[in-house]
Amino acid sequence: MAYARSKTSLLISFEGIEGSGKSTQIQLLKEYFSKKSYQVHVLREPGGTTFGEKLREAILSSSEPIHPLAEAHLFASSRAQLIYQKILPALQNEKTVVIMDRFIDSSLAYQGIARSLGFEAIEKLHQNEPLTIRPDFTFYLKIDVPTSFARQKSRGNQKDYFEKEKEEFYQKLIHGFDLCHEKFPKRFRLINGNQDPKAIHEEIQGILNV
Ligand code: TYD
Repeated sequence: MAYARSKTSLLISFEGIEGSGKSTQIQLLKEYFSKKSYQVHVLREPGGTTFGEKLREAILSSSEPIHPLAEAHLFASSRAQLIYQKILPALQNEKTVVIMDRFIDSSLAYQGIARSLGFEAIEKLHQNEPLTIRPDFTFYLKIDVPTSFARQKSRGNQKDYFEKEKEEFYQKLIHGFDLCHEKFPKRFRLINGNQDPKAIHEEIQGILNV
């Protein structure tokens, strides 16, 4: 499966704990690129394909604890299908941007650190094609745990599998994302998620310089 990536294509991912404001930033970035006549694809993980949406449902609506290794493989499975079916074909085209609502770094933080499988174990899981692809830029919208809980409460939706987790789990997630920033400083950009959405968007535009 050889795909030639066009030089004017971009793969961008957004990361953060629950309530970090990813959706708002993804929408703003989508509009920004559309105005510049880019083809924009917004995809979410887990999901984004018929197969992946089934896996998403299996994980997020589970009423019984799932083993961390099963979790990690389910997410990787959904990701492999999404890369194969949607991401790589899209990136062949000129002036195309694929914006991901979560990608590999979520697995590193959630399964690797918060679920204690280990950062390296998750990296290892992503050593084979097509899981070797990495975003050109990842924007990590960093907020603290009280902010996350307050935003989750104000949304008032029914809690999914991960939203039921307690403070300690969220602290580990933040540690996991901080590790990503330490290990991949060029790609994984830390953004203060407490800022006004417009200010965050401008910071992102400045980094992308498109
Ligand atoms: P979603 O409703 O999309 O959450 P959010 O709006 O916060 O992005 O649910 C995705 C959940 O799955 C989220 O809690 C993070 C988790 N997740 C992992 O644990 N590992 C992964 O690799 C990915 C992609 C997501």
